[in-house]
Amino acid sequence: MTKFISIQEAIKKGTGNVSIRGWTYRERGSNNLKFVVLRDSSNIIQCVLKKEDFSKEWDEIDKIQVESSLELTGTLLKDPRAPTGYELKVKDFKIIGASDKYPITKDQSYDFLLEKRHLSIRTRRLAAIFKIRSSFIQHREQFFREKNFYRFDTPILQPTQSEGGSTVFEVKYYKDKMYLAQTWQLYAEAAIPSLERIYNFGPTFRAEKSKTTNHLSEFWMAEMEAAWFDLKDLTEFGKEELKYTIRKTVEERREEFKFLGQDPDKIIAMTKKEWPTIKYREALKMLKEKDNMDVPFGKDLRTIEEEKITSHFDVPVVVTHYPVEAMGFYKPRDPENTDEALCFDMLAPNGVEIIGGSVRSMDVEDMEERLKAEGEDPKNYEWYFDLRKYGGVPHAGYGIGTERVIAWICGLDNIKDAIAFPRTMTRYKP
Ligand code: 4AD
Ligand code: MG
Repeated sequence: MTKFISIQEAIKKGTGNVSIRGWTYRERGSNNLKFVVLRDSSNIIQCVLKKEDFSKEWDEIDKIQVESSLELTGTLLKDPRAPTGYELKVKDFKIIGASDKYPITKDQSYDFLLEKRHLSIRTRRLAAIFKIRSSFIQHREQFFREKNFYRFDTPILQPTQSEGGSTVFEVKYYKDKMYLAQTWQLYAEAAIPSLERIYNFGPTFRAEKSKTTNHLSEFWMAEMEAAWFDLKDLTEFGKEELKYTIRKTVEERREEFKFLGQDPDKIIAMTKKEWPTIKYREALKMLKEKDNMDVPFGKDLRTIEEEKITSHFDVPVVVTHYPVEAMGFYKPRDPENTDEALCFDMLAPNGVEIIGGSVRSMDVEDMEERLKAEGEDPKNYEWYFDLRKYGGVPHAGYGIGTERVIAWICGLDNIKDAIAFPRTMTRYKP
């Protein structure tokens, strides 16, 4: 049996005979030669087939097109002109899967590539992004293992909204209706008295009516919840989690970051700096003094304001104490300033909110009032209020928008490239 090695392993080996397999990345032919650049998940390598060695099979070889899948055996040679510095002189070949004329060529519109996403995920750019995404998720798991957190999973089908009724997806559920999860949080809070420190990573749904480059209808939120945490514990933990996870990811995926035009050392240096925390009221002051923007206390920050604030920093910035009136029902009032909530957002240097979190309210009456103001029936949240009735303790948590972090560290123009099959208001196929 032939022993195949990856293209990356072949390049590392550099000499001798090897067998590799993969997909045709580029091909060009002449009367006597066929050049195939072969791609597998690890790298690409130039391969050459000579007519004099394959005169009987030449017709077949001549028909190899982009994306034909092949098994090739041959001798490796150093060749500085080849795209990855080596060339395989092919001695034996097998066509595994022929390819029709591949629809994806250079200079196609972004929309066309999205339409053909089932094919365009093969591009080296998207492969680099998905490798980075995979590493990010794996290192984050490691972070929580080291911190002695338990992974805790909650239902996707939920009977109530939790982050505002305007962005829920309704699902027909037998004779009833349910909603797709907007967050893990409310159910996670139920596990606080049994597990104390928990995290998860799961699909999250928002019927966003905005068509920005930062909004998905389905995304993967990376959440955590911890007993006894106050707002300071929470914001510092959030910084630590992201610094650790990003640093490990970049260390492992240097080549992929470089491929995407990102400087790995610059990102690592950013994870070693201090990430500031400011209050919402200070952010308003900064907007007034530095940007001449008058924002009255009481509104959530808009994109333009977030972009202005972050333009004054080269690292993520945590903004705390947003106005209660603009915040979800479970975000408690600061006892010292009851119009401010004990909550925070982390904004990345590109102006995008990457984390949202808060301390959790213990004041059932206040939550009931605020739910009513949102048009909800507090009765539907009785189980959630029970958590306060039977030995409630201070606790807090946050959620990271995985795709937003990936888009930021990879320098992507559009969040859609941080997920394999994006769902937005206007795009849900394939
Ligand atoms: O700020 P959000 O809405 O917070 C919550 O849902 C909390 N319940 C989380 C918690 O405390 N456990 O969402 C958290 C993060 C945002 O900061 C953003 O990064 C991301 O989720 N996010 C989105 N990402 C992509 N597309 C969307 N439509 C997003 N909505 C939120
Ligand atoms: Mg938010």
